[in-house]
Amino acid sequence: MTDHRPPAGDPSQAPMTDRQGHPVHDNQNMRTVGSRGPATMENYQFLEKMSHFDRERVPERVVHARGATAFGYFEATGTWGDEPISKYTRAKLFQEKGKRTDVAVRFSTVAGGRDSSEMARDPRGFAVKFYTEDGNWDLVGNNIGIFFIRDAIKFPDFIHSQKPDPVTFEGSVANRAFDFFSQSPEAMHMIMVLFSPRGIPASFRKQQGFGVNTYKWVNADGDTVLVKYHWSPKLGVSSLTQEDADKIQAKELGYHTKDLYDAIAAGDYPEWELQVQMMSDDEHPELDFDPLDDTKVWPEEIFPPKPVGRMVLNRAPENFFAESEQIAFGTGVLVDGLDFSDDKMLIGRTFSYSDTQRHRVGPNYLQLPVNSPKVRVATNQRDGQMTYHVDTDPDQNPSVNYEPTITGGLREHERDSGYRAAVGPEVSGQLTREPLERTNDYKQAGERFQLQEDWEKEELISNFIDKLSQCDRPIQERMVWHFYLIEDELGQRVGDAIGVSLDDVKDMKPLVTQQLTEEEQERLRNLG
Ligand code: HEM
Repeated sequence: MTDHRPPAGDPSQAPMTDRQGHPVHDNQNMRTVGSRGPATMENYQFLEKMSHFDRERVPERVVHARGATAFGYFEATGTWGDEPISKYTRAKLFQEKGKRTDVAVRFSTVAGGRDSSEMARDPRGFAVKFYTEDGNWDLVGNNIGIFFIRDAIKFPDFIHSQKPDPVTFEGSVANRAFDFFSQSPEAMHMIMVLFSPRGIPASFRKQQGFGVNTYKWVNADGDTVLVKYHWSPKLGVSSLTQEDADKIQAKELGYHTKDLYDAIAAGDYPEWELQVQMMSDDEHPELDFDPLDDTKVWPEEIFPPKPVGRMVLNRAPENFFAESEQIAFGTGVLVDGLDFSDDKMLIGRTFSYSDTQRHRVGPNYLQLPVNSPKVRVATNQRDGQMTYHVDTDPDQNPSVNYEPTITGGLREHERDSGYRAAVGPEVSGQLTREPLERTNDYKQAGERFQLQEDWEKEELISNFIDKLSQCDRPIQERMVWHFYLIEDELGQRVGDAIGVSLDDVKDMKPLVTQQLTEEEQERLRNLG
């Protein structure tokens, strides 16, 4: 029998064991009765290897399945503009100039599966995990700054509309996606950006990031302000036309991941500045939108974004599965000095992330190195699938996994001198199911259109035409109606190309779910 094994003692090849630490002497042949079999049932080495392989995949993320992770640090300015940041937040990571906090960042696309193309016209996820001294903070955002919907209860429907037909699994989702958009006027602002060149970034390193939802900052006195987060890439923003993207996609599905890892390997570390917009913590009746509406931007001339730090990514994962597939971000993961607003999307998201991660990765996902905070963890949570260790404190009586106790278990943390159980304004109201009042779905969409340069408008319109020409006639008509409410030029140019005239749409009534502003009603009357 020929022995193909490399010479023993070759220093370039370390000897193999199984997961029990037993040496593996033969990784080529299963144990059999004679060289032609049959195989024996007690073949532990084969069974262990194969059954682990059978379980190599965990369910992919239900959204944002394709992505790439990198690690680095965040460095604080200690200020918000010219003011000390402590005036607005007591979050420790922001306080001192030059203070560094380790971060993990995962960039992703949204709709496609784990091996799908990174050239998709899709928002890019921009999720940052800060391993702070007070435990982890996750800022889970995107590269666009707004979103398609403003109430979390619509998210499963929205995502279904972006995924293949559940009967045929047919690849083109244009009819499904625009069916949903045509019935969701709040999506108009987002699609004006998504179908522009901004819808396909040139690189993860050359895209902005945003927290999108409205959060709060809390200072040492318990005073709160509303904030929005922006990441600005040092390399500037750069995007691809559909034609560029199609060419790249023909050759390479993982173009953005490769670009990120190549840059890090070359020492060309990507960097972003973190800026924060701020407003007082109230309803702001003077604005024509609600500060809790994630389909809106806060005008920068009124609420200027001011720098609070910078982020540098300087390390790629050592193992993709361990550090990118298993990393778990969530909007519920805040630290002292940061808080939730009542943004209905944010609240809904906060349930969804950890819920899906308990299913996708397992109930002990927070014990994995990439997810676990870099500070002491001591809980009374025990057991469950894949318990890696017990969260005890060295001084804790290991038998006491409950609190309160007088027999050596854990006790509640001391409260800092500035601790306040009650923060922010008082909220009251009746239980209800109602939309926000100031929907104003077309104004910012129109401003986006006007801000675009001619070539960008060309791209936007051509991308809409491409998708809408694959849609059913009633969907085309309703979309052209929305476009006229956004901007005549947009309605007319898309309508002309797909054979829908102003006459075809001018008598259409608003959707039953829609409340038009005075200005929008006026625009609608003028269509006729
Ligand atoms: C991932 C739910 C809205 C950004 C996910 C995942 C779920 C989810 C279930 C998969 C998480 C995992 O398996 O680890 C929701 C719900 C939303 C919502 C219910 C609305 C109610 C948004 C919005 C943004 C966003 C508005 C952008 C601001 C992300 C990102 C990821 C993600 C970046 C990927 C995180 C990673 O890289 O692991 N979302 N999402 N989501 N979501 Fe959302």
